[in-house]
Amino acid sequence: MYEILVTGGAGFIGSHFVRRMLRRDDVSRVTVLDALTYAGNTANLGDAFLDPRLTFVHGNILDAALVDELMARHTVVVHFAAESHVDRSLTTADRFLTTNVLGTHTLAAAAGRHGIEKFVHVSTDEVYGSLAEGAAGEDAPLRPGVPYAASKAASDLVALSHFQTYGLPLCVTRSSNNYGPHQFPEKIIPLFVTRLLRGEKVTLHGQGQHVRNWLHVDDNCAGIELVLCAGKPGEIYNLGGGTDLTSRDLTAKLLSLCGTDWDSVTYIPDRQANDLRYSMLWDKIRALGFRPAHDLDEGLEKTVQWYRHNHGRRTPPLSAAMRPRVILATAQGA
Ligand SMILES: NC(=O)c1ccc[n+]([C@@H]2O[C@H](COP(=O)([O-])OP(=O)(O)OC[C@H]3O[C@@H](n4cnc5c(N)ncnc54)[C@H](O)[C@@H]3O)[C@@H](O)[C@H]2O)c1
Repeated sequence: MYEILVTGGAGFIGSHFVRRMLRRDDVSRVTVLDALTYAGNTANLGDAFLDPRLTFVHGNILDAALVDELMARHTVVVHFAAESHVDRSLTTADRFLTTNVLGTHTLAAAAGRHGIEKFVHVSTDEVYGSLAEGAAGEDAPLRPGVPYAASKAASDLVALSHFQTYGLPLCVTRSSNNYGPHQFPEKIIPLFVTRLLRGEKVTLHGQGQHVRNWLHVDDNCAGIELVLCAGKPGEIYNLGGGTDLTSRDLTAKLLSLCGTDWDSVTYIPDRQANDLRYSMLWDKIRALGFRPAHDLDEGLEKTVQWYRHNHGRRTPPLSAAMRPRVILATAQGA
């Protein structure tokens, strides 16, 4: 039976992962540890709180005493908690380094002390940096171009050092850009959709030429689940298989789905740092049986429908029956 500690489980990807874990019969406990920064919201977990196996802990991954206490009660860890927005990292890189690097070390060190059986560290393809051509395999050099990516690359190395040095059974996943319901409206898809549905304008950086690979959040979570159950300790797994698109082509799709046109778009100068193209190979996770299930057009249509249904908000409010059970709260967690 799995007793799973999920950090950052009130965020976008973490909350989808928690729901997925609660669908398994061999999971006896899921605990979410989340500091509820601007990006976290217990309402993202909604009716998952009806499941008595789920507990929410409002706390910080940097709180070593709290982390230690939680590790003692779990067998596996899936680590999502991070500062995750590139634009914010351009002005508050110190916060990114503290949370993403030191936070990962705090968790991995406690996991080692408590004999955690599997630790999955969730990372990003952005650590490989911008590629003029070709695609990055897991052994490609780390060339992060922006502070967010640098903090994730550093956190990957710290995490892997706990495998090398102390034998912590740890895997790293690196996925491409995720999309789907419950994403905080600061990244391009939820930001554009929520604005366009309100009849507002959106801004496109440069000429809209930046290329990203778009993977549905459920597909990323399926890959992370596979790595949790079958990943080899010490290994990195790229999680790609979505669709490559320029930001201009993505915008065209969103305009059409939101029932508007290019009059809603203003071009602005590119930001001070903006990687032109990410691309990666994902043969290792494919060999474990991973196959993304979502077609981009269908996934985007459902995502826009979700935002439309939720009146442009990212998350419906919690009903009284769904209030989270908070078992611990710390001063640092607020
Ligand atoms: N969104 C993507 O497209 C994407 C792609 C690849 C990898 N990732 C990685 O996946 C993970 C989750 O991303 P997301 O998009 O769900 O992020 P998110 O910003 O939606 O959620 C992050 C969560 O972490 C929590 N958190 C932040 N600092 C914390 C701290 N110090 N202690 C405890 N909790 C804290 C926040 O409250 C929030 O709930 C991140 O590690 C990110 O780097 C994201």
